[in-house]
Amino acid sequence: MPSKGKTSDKKAAKSKKASKSGAKTSATKAPKKTAVKPARPKATKPGAAKAGAAGKSAKAGKGRDFEPRIVAFACNWCSYPAADAAGISKMQYPPNARVIRVMCAGRIHPAFVLRALELGADGVLVSGCHFADCHYLFGAKRAAEQFEKTAELVRILGIESERVRFEQISAAEAPRFVKVMHDFVVDLKRLGRSPLAGAAEGELVVPDAMGDETT
Ligand code: FES
Repeated sequence: MPSKGKTSDKKAAKSKKASKSGAKTSATKAPKKTAVKPARPKATKPGAAKAGAAGKSAKAGKGRDFEPRIVAFACNWCSYPAADAAGISKMQYPPNARVIRVMCAGRIHPAFVLRALELGADGVLVSGCHFADCHYLFGAKRAAEQFEKTAELVRILGIESERVRFEQISAAEAPRFVKVMHDFVVDLKRLGRSPLAGAAEGELVVPDAMGDETT
C-alpha cells in the first residue's frame, strides 16, 4: 500500500506541472499590448492659410499687400524741398519711393526712366519746378518735352502709361507732394507688378552711377 505522504507529494508535483504549463500557454496566447497613439493633426495657426494666400498674391504683384516700388526723380530746387518739408512737418505718405535728387528735372532723359523700370521699379515719377520757377530758365520746359518722349516710348513698349508720371511741385507745396505720392501708389497697386520688373526679384536696385542721392 502506498503511503499517504507519497500520494500527497505526487499530487503537489502534478499541480506544479499543470500550473507551469498553464503559465506557458497563457504567455504564448496572450497578445502583446502595444500602445498605438492616434496621429494628431498638425496645429495650424488661425488665418495662416489666409496669410499664405495674401503672400502669394503680393508676390504675384496684386492685392492689398502688394507694395509698389517707385523711383522719384526730384528737382533740387522745388520737389526735393517739398518732399523734405513733408517729412519735417510729419505729413504721412507712403514710403514706397526711392527719391533721387537732380539739379533740374530737365536733366531727366527718357533713358533714365526706362532704366529705372528695367531695374525693377513699378513706377517712375519725374518731378520738377513750375515753368516760371525753374532755376535754369528752360529746364522745366525741357523736362516736360523729355517726358512726352518717355511716355511715347513707354506706350511703344506696351507698358501702362500710368506707370510714368510728370508733376510740377514747388518747394511750398509739400501737401501736394504727399497727395501725388498717395495717388501714385494707389494707381500702381491697381496695376500690380510692372511687366519689366519680373526679372528683378527682391529689392529695387539703384546703381551707384545714379549718384548717392538715393534715400
Ligand atoms: S530747376 Fe527745377 S525744374 Fe529746373
